[in-house]
Amino acid sequence: MSKRNRSNQNQNKKMNKNKKDVKIKTEKGSMMDEWPEPIVRVQSLAERNLSTLPERYIKPASQRPTMTDDAPVATNIPVIDLEGLFSEDGSSGDVIMAKISDACREWGFFQVVNHGVRPELMDAARENWREFFHLPVNAKETYSNSPRTYEGYGSRLGVEKGAILDWSDYYYLHHLPPHLKDFNKWPSSPPTIREVIDEYGKEVVQLCERIMRVLSSNLGLKEDKFQEAFGGKNIGACLRVNYYPKCPRPELALGLSSHSDPGGMTILLPDDQVFGLQVRKDNTWITVKPHPHAFIVNIGDQIQILSNSTYKSVEHRVIVNSERERVSLAFFYNPKSDIPIQPLQELVSTHNPPLYPPMTFDQYRLFIRTQGPRGKSHVESHVSPR
Ligand code: OGA
Ligand code: NI
Repeated sequence: MSKRNRSNQNQNKKMNKNKKDVKIKTEKGSMMDEWPEPIVRVQSLAERNLSTLPERYIKPASQRPTMTDDAPVATNIPVIDLEGLFSEDGSSGDVIMAKISDACREWGFFQVVNHGVRPELMDAARENWREFFHLPVNAKETYSNSPRTYEGYGSRLGVEKGAILDWSDYYYLHHLPPHLKDFNKWPSSPPTIREVIDEYGKEVVQLCERIMRVLSSNLGLKEDKFQEAFGGKNIGACLRVNYYPKCPRPELALGLSSHSDPGGMTILLPDDQVFGLQVRKDNTWITVKPHPHAFIVNIGDQIQILSNSTYKSVEHRVIVNSERERVSLAFFYNPKSDIPIQPLQELVSTHNPPLYPPMTFDQYRLFIRTQGPRGKSHVESHVSPR
């Protein structure tokens, strides 16, 4: 048997073991059908104008945001203008591609402007969702989600009983593949929302396809290599809209705990008025200052895995405040959910062995779906044993 076959066989063994682990977890918790305890909408807590924070939302001291005014002069994540990226003469293209390459390796995060998605569509998408979240809580309960698919209106991530929760509600829906896109699971109010999300999703998918080509080319691969590894036309795309109400004690809580995104790549439309996203860089938390009509792009765990860790999925979290609510749209571009994802053959060698065993995205995302956001522990625990 050739070395490569043997190593493939080992990897398959490992994959089956992982499969078994995950199965045990889901069986132990056929709890995946429902939440471990009654769901409390953060919106309803915020509407009570509490002067203290319910205990369930108080983070341990080590995780609380540092809210000092004497923070070091703010750096921002790289801002990259995509105008000219695909120009006919290719003149400015190389410079832009080099910036994206550096950003993916060093930051795992960057902002893009002139990205091709219409600014008025971005505003319409955010404002339709804001209206949706302003509906009374009971008007939204019909869309209430379960941990089995997470689709719909939700208020927690993870099914661990007694977990300390994040100060946010969200809505999660599928855009692709087409058979998972179900308008009945999308909100119907405000009346324009379905049409706007649909259009928004289509434009953002096009942007994702363009960025995927750049990510491939920048590693010396043919430009559709990443897309192919993701399953070609059968990729997944879903949207999570986050609603962070005002918080009475923002220094004790987080809107979203530290995590890396489990999927391929995320295109985030932040609130244009309210800061909140923080990205981890060399052990400090950098608060992102969004450019007008920019998207924030970040590498997810699946691209870190495919690139054998040349590209980094980076930890990030969201802080809240007592003055203003915040709405953000995170669009996740993911591999087809049932094909094994592993470092690309072209990027590994005996000197540079694959760091991760193959695993499907369906299996992989059970980490975050059961345990909730936990920094980079999911991708770190997924490494091949040495
Ligand atoms: C996410 C996320 C950041 C934000 O939804 O995965 O990181 O600013 N959101 O809401
Ligand atoms: Ni995220």
